[in-house]
Amino acid sequence: MIISRLIAKNWRNFQEINVPLRGRQFIVGPTGSGKSNLLDIFRFLRDIVKTDGGGFQKAVKDRGGVSKIRCLSARQDPEIAIEIHIADALDAPAKWRYGVGFRQQPRGHRWTYLTRECVWKDDKLLLDRPDENDKEDPDRLTQTALEQSAANAEFREIALFLQNVTYLHLVPQLIRSGDAIQGRIIEDDPYGQGFLERIASMHPSTRRSRLKKIEHTLKIAVPQFEKLEFVRDNTGRPHLQVRYSHWHSNEARQREDQFSDGMLRLIGLLWSLLEKDSIVLLEEPELSLNIGTVSELAPSISKLQRSQRSQVLVSTQSDVLLIEPGIDGREVLLLIPEKVGTVVKISSDIDYIRALLEAGLTAGEVVLTRYPEQLSLLE
Ligand SMILES: Nc1ncnc2c1ncn2[C@@H]1O[C@H](COP(=O)(O)OP(=O)(O)O)[C@@H](O)[C@H]1O
Ligand SMILES: [Mg+2]
Repeated sequence: MIISRLIAKNWRNFQEINVPLRGRQFIVGPTGSGKSNLLDIFRFLRDIVKTDGGGFQKAVKDRGGVSKIRCLSARQDPEIAIEIHIADALDAPAKWRYGVGFRQQPRGHRWTYLTRECVWKDDKLLLDRPDENDKEDPDRLTQTALEQSAANAEFREIALFLQNVTYLHLVPQLIRSGDAIQGRIIEDDPYGQGFLERIASMHPSTRRSRLKKIEHTLKIAVPQFEKLEFVRDNTGRPHLQVRYSHWHSNEARQREDQFSDGMLRLIGLLWSLLEKDSIVLLEEPELSLNIGTVSELAPSISKLQRSQRSQVLVSTQSDVLLIEPGIDGREVLLLIPEKVGTVVKISSDIDYIRALLEAGLTAGEVVLTRYPEQLSLLE
């Protein structure tokens, strides 16, 4: 399943969002335009349905409350709202629609409560809150039906689907020294601290088949790359090991503590793309990957997607990442900062961009010209 449309109102620096989504979706915009905020909408939905210590109230609280989430340029409207459409496959009609709206009590305890919660299956309305029960007992509006297994029986599929959202902002230092750092692994491990342990704990045959696929991709993306293996050292600790073809000694191997940052991030990223039926959120993967690898990322994602059924949302500021000729204008969302907040557009809905793409230019050559000032700052 994939999220085929995102609609939102008053979420952080966006007053309004209403865009269709593809299986591979790039989110492009200058620093501060809201790329992370947009990805955070999906993390928020995931936090609502999280089984251990999740829930709507916590998801709001973890973000500093309604006053931090609500768009500062929203004048009157106190409501924040999100709606997603979920389809079985790309270009299929939406099977599910889930909508949630909330605000803060204007007086008194200033609780955060739901203004609405709706679920449609095909075109049938299954849930329409506030309902009679909510009117009798308004405290019920502090929780979504989606997060409660006693209330979501008819649409639990949505909750299970959203539990598969994975957010990745891999930090190579943390992957390398995961077990050497004092303290707990951050919830959901977005920075990859427990990455090696995760690989170690899988069924060996699944692990082998995933590593093979990653190895295959690395051979295309990384010059001279030959082999990727999982090993344990004599204290039993898990490691990843690589070999390059230009190394003369047959014995020569390198372990993750010697990998380049780019190599580690790439392996972590490919690994998460292999999670089935998942939604992977990648934050600016171009950071610390070398240019050759960045240019291979987009084709690698679509190759891996052919066999898995994952959806990948990638925030980026890199024209090189978008240089692949196969990238369709619909696969690039542009974040355009304006006085009233950031506007989100599909790149091919902008006339001159569509014309240039049709003329054969790549997304990388075209879309970042939207931001000439930022580009000159970066150069
Ligand atoms: N509630 C809000 N209303 C308006 N703007 C907000 C709100 N919350 C955060 N922002 C703004 O969003 C911007 C950060 O967006 P971010 O997603 O981190 O950008 P990017 O990832 O593209 O660099 C900051 O400029 C911040 O001031
Ligand atoms: Mg960001």
